[in-house]
Amino acid sequence: MKSLDVDWVRARFPALSPELAFFDNAGGSAACLPVIERVRDHVEKSMVQLGGTHPWSRDATAKVAAGHAAAATLLGGEVADVALTPSTTASMARLAAAFAPALEPGDEIVVTDLDHEANIGAFRRLGEGPEARPGVVVREWRFDEGTQTLTEEGLRAVLSERTRLVAFTHCSNVVGALHDVRRLAAVAHEVGARVVVDGVAFAPHRRVDVSALGVDAYAFSAYKVYGPHLGLLWVASDFRAELTSRNHFFLPTDTAAYQLEPGSAPHELAVALPGIVEYLEALAAHHGGEGLDDAFALIAAHEQRLAEPLIEALAGMDGVRVMGPASADAAVRAPTVAFAVDGASPAEIPPKLDAHGVSLRSGHFYAHRAVERFGLLEKGGLLRASMVHYNTKAEVDRLIAALRETLVAMLTD
Ligand SMILES: Cc1ncc(COP(=O)(O)O)c(C=O)c1O
Repeated sequence: MKSLDVDWVRARFPALSPELAFFDNAGGSAACLPVIERVRDHVEKSMVQLGGTHPWSRDATAKVAAGHAAAATLLGGEVADVALTPSTTASMARLAAAFAPALEPGDEIVVTDLDHEANIGAFRRLGEGPEARPGVVVREWRFDEGTQTLTEEGLRAVLSERTRLVAFTHCSNVVGALHDVRRLAAVAHEVGARVVVDGVAFAPHRRVDVSALGVDAYAFSAYKVYGPHLGLLWVASDFRAELTSRNHFFLPTDTAAYQLEPGSAPHELAVALPGIVEYLEALAAHHGGEGLDDAFALIAAHEQRLAEPLIEALAGMDGVRVMGPASADAAVRAPTVAFAVDGASPAEIPPKLDAHGVSLRSGHFYAHRAVERFGLLEKGGLLRASMVHYNTKAEVDRLIAALRETLVAMLTD
């Protein structure tokens, strides 16, 4: 397949401009045009309650249903298994609360120390603190220090016959390493545990397909995948059968939306989700391909071409330590590149780069436990340059030049 036509891509993101090289995409991406148009259209014409017989309501109902269908497409699952929530933090909190009544004393929950706290805290609370279920035990699957990844060995060390649920990340939002979810889920299933995966840092970069991953629940955030501020949550139907609905007592419990969308999702955002699918399909078609697989193949190849020079340049800078995989290979990492700078406070660097028209971010990125184990929390965490497919090689060159100049000035001060 051809290489990515970045000009075509950038023309579909009105927020992008030559003045600003944006490297905070893991925080939130720009929205694509078909998403923006749908939000506007809905707010202009269809701000009415669903389920009515009048034409406005029929139109709004159909559009929100299309939003759920698009979420299912983006997840690779059935629409009955998909709920739209305000965020992935909310998705995990709702899922944990809905699962809590199924837990018995002696049951065990496994969480990691690498994940974003959204996929740790919600499940930790099942066994710790004021909301804990009596006798539920929390175990921590610690990441491998050498590779900064979650390993099968690490998982096996905390699994037992009492493990009821294992929550882990598809891709670290800090170090960018990808995990073999299918393999790790199979290991957790050996003891009959449910597997919940956070795909937030994965979904902007690679095709999500829950049907191929063999997990029980999967969540990501549309606002990092060129869409609106919504959480997309997929829960397998047999797992849903174990959940207690978070919704009104008189409502059905046969869909994820009924169980996990109390009060429903913001309509003007839900209706925008088909815009992401439309954009990705158009991207594939523009390059002579078809569908989401082709779109993400183009995206992965382009992202690798961006990550290569950045990782190489960072690795060659004095006092700079690149976290996560040393390779830019799209099979092992997303183009989310975190690095530490000896002798510099991370928080001082982004404002200096702003002056060069280069945006990135510093901190722990809510992967608080991981950054603490890296020994970097007290020092202010890390710097993170997170790219997506609309970034260009010229922007990467600009980031490298701006960083070099900034670091030389800071470290010789
Ligand atoms: C890996 C990961 N998980 C979860 C979240 C939380 O997502 P949300 O802001 O939708 O709650 C983030 C946000 O940065 C993230 O990067």
